Amino acid sequence: MSPSTLSIVFFSLLIMLLSSSYSNAQTTPPKPQSFIFPIKKDATTNQYYTTIQIGSKATTLDVVIDLGGKFLYFNSDDYSNATSSYHPIPCGTSKCRNVVDTDGCIVFCNTSPGPAPGCTNNTCADYALNPFTGTQGYNGLGEDALRVRSTRGSRRYYTVNNFPFQYSDPVLKDELASSTAGVIGLGRSKISLAAQLSSAFTIRRKFALCVPSSGGGNGNMIFGETTYYEISNKSLIFTTTPLVKNHGSKYNNGGLGNLTVEYFIGVRSIKVGSKTLSLNKTMLSIDDRNDGSGGTSIQTVRPYTTLQRPLYRALVKEFVKAAQAKNITKVKSVAPFGACFDSKSVVSSKTGPQVPTIDFVLQKKSVYWRFYGSNSMVKVASKDVICLAFVEGEINIAGPTTSIEVGGYQMENYLLEFDLASYKFGFSSSLSLHDTTCSKFLS
Ligand SMILES: *[C@@H]1O[C@H](CO)[C@@H](O)[C@H](O)[C@H]1NC(C)=O
Ligand SMILES: *[C@@H]1O[C@H](CO)[C@@H](O)[C@H](O)[C@H]1NC(C)=O
Ligand SMILES: *[C@@H]1O[C@H](CO)[C@@H](O)[C@H](O)[C@H]1NC(C)=O
Ligand SMILES: *[C@@H]1O[C@H](CO)[C@@H](O)[C@H](O)[C@H]1NC(C)=O
Ligand SMILES: *[C@@H]1O[C@H](CO)[C@@H](O)[C@H](O)[C@H]1NC(C)=O
Repeated sequence: MSPSTLSIVFFSLLIMLLSSSYSNAQTTPPKPQSFIFPIKKDATTNQYYTTIQIGSKATTLDVVIDLGGKFLYFNSDDYSNATSSYHPIPCGTSKCRNVVDTDGCIVFCNTSPGPAPGCTNNTCADYALNPFTGTQGYNGLGEDALRVRSTRGSRRYYTVNNFPFQYSDPVLKDELASSTAGVIGLGRSKISLAAQLSSAFTIRRKFALCVPSSGGGNGNMIFGETTYYEISNKSLIFTTTPLVKNHGSKYNNGGLGNLTVEYFIGVRSIKVGSKTLSLNKTMLSIDDRNDGSGGTSIQTVRPYTTLQRPLYRALVKEFVKAAQAKNITKVKSVAPFGACFDSKSVVSSKTGPQVPTIDFVLQKKSVYWRFYGSNSMVKVASKDVICLAFVEGEINIAGPTTSIEVGGYQMENYLLEFDLASYKFGFSSSLSLHDTTCSKFLS
């Protein structure tokens, strides 16, 4: 080393020492305001999933997004073979009472050759639900480090040291998109991603979803305060409506102090074009005196919006009538859809096939969520056939039946915001009106 390099090294060291003693603020990362995760759509299952990094080796895992799910669960050798920082949450601790609403405890669990994530003695436990099969798994809960990335600007990585989750039985991976190891719950629970990020970094308990369409690149979800719509330069119209609490719980374990963790909004009526459907108002509202059936929830785990039979029939009938009035030719229906059309008889536009609009009218007549052809019509395998992308909902045998479940296809390329601090749901006008998509919008 030449004398001049030595003096440079010395000088740099001196500067480092000086700067660290003068200003700690410069060496600690700035307080983050928001965190970003990608959203991808699996072409085979139509499931939406994200990527997380967890454990001492920051193992990368894909997990399906369940907006109405309670917490994170997964099963992956890649993770369990690599991490050294997993630790179970013991029974009877305040942390256990904080994360589960039951008094769940697994007193004894042992695997050969020894304890493993999800199977340790004296471990706080809860049910995890696979939203596609309805299978529930009762396992111990543990914690590990979750690596998260802040949004635009700094784009730094931060760590949530004790992120709670369930290392679940592999059976809970049945019917999940093949690349995924589990499910991440975004529901209204104390251990959801939104709640954990909010308490770890004292950011607003709020998140935004921008769900991509098939082949439309990655969408995004953002937790915390962000200024995405000002930055975008687009004059999006942003509408808000109260989120509605529902005392019923679709699965006996899906609740929290008897409130479901799913998100509900108050749809008061539905319009096709300018015509208001005549619907059973009892079905549109939540039966809060009894089991919490009825009402409208928002579900990323439903590929298409579902409506219970009387509502679905009314929608299909009016839609077909309005489409035929526009000289759109009806063809034989293709299951599971109830109304299909000859795509050659439909004019296309930037908002997709030009079909009658469908409005979900909320707290006032002037407040509605409008779906254009890009969100109401889907191509099916048969040549030149497009179908109304709404399906008839099944009766739930495990608990109360929700009348309408807004599904993924209807959420695609809208910016959706769940503000849990004010308990409001916000949605933008369709991004297709603004010549953009979720993949271009927040990335
Ligand atoms: C994890 O470890 C188990 C047991 O040692 C082994 O059988 C398995 O192949 C490993 N899996 C991975 C993905 O490393
Ligand atoms: C779990 O409990 C069993 C029975 O009490 C005991 O034999 C075993 O050593 C315990 N395992 C651990 C990891 O503490
Ligand atoms: C939950 O429901 C049960 C049975 O309906 C009721 O007894 C209990 O008070 C409810 N708990 C809360 C926190 O509302
Ligand atoms: C409306 O829906 C409720 C709840 O499903 C049902 O009990 C009632 O019979 C329905 N009313 C009519 C007029 O169909
Ligand atoms: C539908 O077709 C009929 C007969 O060809 C025509 O008179 C009418 O103007 C068309 N209506 C619309 C809305 O295009």
